[in-house]
Amino acid sequence: MNIQWDAKAYTQSFSFVHQYGRDLIELIHQPEGARVLDLGCGTGELTLRLREEGMAVMGMDASPDQLKIARSTHPQIDFLLGDATDFSLEKPVDVVFSNAVLHWIEGGRHPQMLKKVHAALRPGGQFVFEFGGAGNNHLIHQALRKGFEKRGYPYVFPFYFPSIGEYTPRLESAGFKVVYARLFDRMTELEGEDGLYNWIKMFIKAPFKEIPESDEEAIISEALLELEAKLHIKGKWYADYVRIRCKAIKNPC
Ligand code: BEZ
Repeated sequence: MNIQWDAKAYTQSFSFVHQYGRDLIELIHQPEGARVLDLGCGTGELTLRLREEGMAVMGMDASPDQLKIARSTHPQIDFLLGDATDFSLEKPVDVVFSNAVLHWIEGGRHPQMLKKVHAALRPGGQFVFEFGGAGNNHLIHQALRKGFEKRGYPYVFPFYFPSIGEYTPRLESAGFKVVYARLFDRMTELEGEDGLYNWIKMFIKAPFKEIPESDEEAIISEALLELEAKLHIKGKWYADYVRIRCKAIKNPC
């Protein structure tokens, strides 16, 4: 995955990520006692929620910093260090669950990730997930891109935000039957007066690595000015999220 997390700041200021993930859990069929892998579990808030709903859950994440927090906050849960595109489990699980993480994996690596998820599930097992879908944060990226291009820099786009039409064939090719797929807007309120500035600093790191530091603040200020009309509403900043949410069943072998 292409990000270095500031795990503490993430947990403190961006808790909406796991708050919103709660209703994704409702897509899990027969949750009681199900063996579940929370793929890209981060600091483990939703992993705990899955456990509270009666599931036998373990978390996996590629970030040692996030796992350190997860393990100390939820010592009753097993957390494994692992990359979503390169992992295997000793015993197959009933459910692989993933919230707000798969957009960090390059599009070209998704078939590999789907192969690993497929291998980790028992036949008939459920892959329930949500991540950024086509058009996610379009206004924000458009405004930032303008600032980069005005200065002659490329805007290196670090995310994969597919449509349903693009992603469901990928699931089918990997051996899944897609039983639920939805793409929807979710305008998301950000915390504090500098909500969008903080969001950009937290999540949009890769494009700025390619340019001199001296241009970063100017580009962000210009973008915020432009975005004020659409994303600053009644004194609160919002991010223009779009989610792709799916449930796919591993075909019997
Ligand atoms: C998302 O959850 O959609 C997301 C969050 C940060 C950066 C990109 C996407």
